[in-house]
Amino acid sequence: MTERVVLAYSGGLDTSVAIPYLAEQTGGEVIAVAIDVGQDGEDLDVIKQRALDCGATAAEVVDARDEFAAEYCIPAMRANALYMDRYPLVSALSRPLIVKYLVQAAAKHGATIVSHGCTGKGNDQVRFEVGLAALAPHLKVIAPARDFAWTRDKAIAYAESKGLPIDVSNKSPYSIDQNLWGRAVETGFLEDIWNAPIEDIYAYTQNPDSGLDPDEVTITFEAGVPVALDGETKTPFEIITELNSRAGAQGVGRLDMVEDRLVGIKSREIYEAPAAIALIAAHQELENVTVERDLARFKRSIDQRWGELVYDGLWFSPLKNALESFIDDAQRHVTGEVRMVLHGGRATVTGRRSEASLYDFGLATYDEGDQFDQSLARGFVELWGLPSKLASARDERIKGTS
Ligand code: ARG
Repeated sequence: MTERVVLAYSGGLDTSVAIPYLAEQTGGEVIAVAIDVGQDGEDLDVIKQRALDCGATAAEVVDARDEFAAEYCIPAMRANALYMDRYPLVSALSRPLIVKYLVQAAAKHGATIVSHGCTGKGNDQVRFEVGLAALAPHLKVIAPARDFAWTRDKAIAYAESKGLPIDVSNKSPYSIDQNLWGRAVETGFLEDIWNAPIEDIYAYTQNPDSGLDPDEVTITFEAGVPVALDGETKTPFEIITELNSRAGAQGVGRLDMVEDRLVGIKSREIYEAPAAIALIAAHQELENVTVERDLARFKRSIDQRWGELVYDGLWFSPLKNALESFIDDAQRHVTGEVRMVLHGGRATVTGRRSEASLYDFGLATYDEGDQFDQSLARGFVELWGLPSKLASARDERIKGTS
């Protein structure tokens, strides 16, 4: 029987070259699968045709935008997921979804091999392959760029020798990955970490100094899910799309960071994630109003762990699932509205209201109507400090004796 290979196809040089290469290496047929996670670049039908022109036996396009928004981006927002306190996991979120569709395509076409275009230096090879190991351990993996040590020049030479219909004149010096949740740009002059990013590399955001008037937006949440913008009910995909353009116009969500990759390398990446940064800030503030103190404190460590697991390629892991049960429970009362001003590169919360609010004006006010009994505070403070007081007294007592 002919061997079949399912390839995660982006339409770019590396995965286009991979089509004839994989066919040659395996003697089999290549099925190219392109997943739409809101990357909003080239038309996916053009990409599909390119795969066929490069020699794919079949090419499929999956529109996974709504699913990506609701089941990947929103859970990340519920976990306030920011790797190293900054990066909203853009690429890390799309890989498990892509894996899911590769596995489906492999089953449908009777493929025994899955292929991706990642190099051996990044996180994404780990995310693809650990995901595949979890969902379909019987599938073999070939990663041509890594396993056969391709360089860009080698790929171009191979494309030319095969007469592949790809435009190699487009010599972008950057490696870019983008989807609905944001955009990541690396390599080229950015590899010198002293070099400042130039305006040219941005696509999801305008310069924060553009002089635009501030934009005010109200986001409605129900049990930790955003359900409306400015009072209009919308799907997660619609909300993220609209916030990408409104917050993006104000330059919200630009990040320039050196990050710790799973493979041990420190790398420099520029991100733009306008909707992600605005939504996480709004969600976090609604949690501040509606989540009880100790639950909120504990959730911060759960959130951080969730983000690290997803960054590290462990989307399909028991610990991540268990943490999500905790997060779901903690979101029960995260219902209400947050008003934000988008301006000058920032998404700033200016108001919040919720029927599930724990903010009690009577307890908080310093004006007339104060219901907080300050006379109770004296005894509380006394007992709260008792253990420290005892320990200090003990230290004083035995000073010099040990
Ligand atoms: N550093 C990010 C991550 O590991 C993005 C990786 C892809 N970046 C790129 N520019 N191609 O999730």
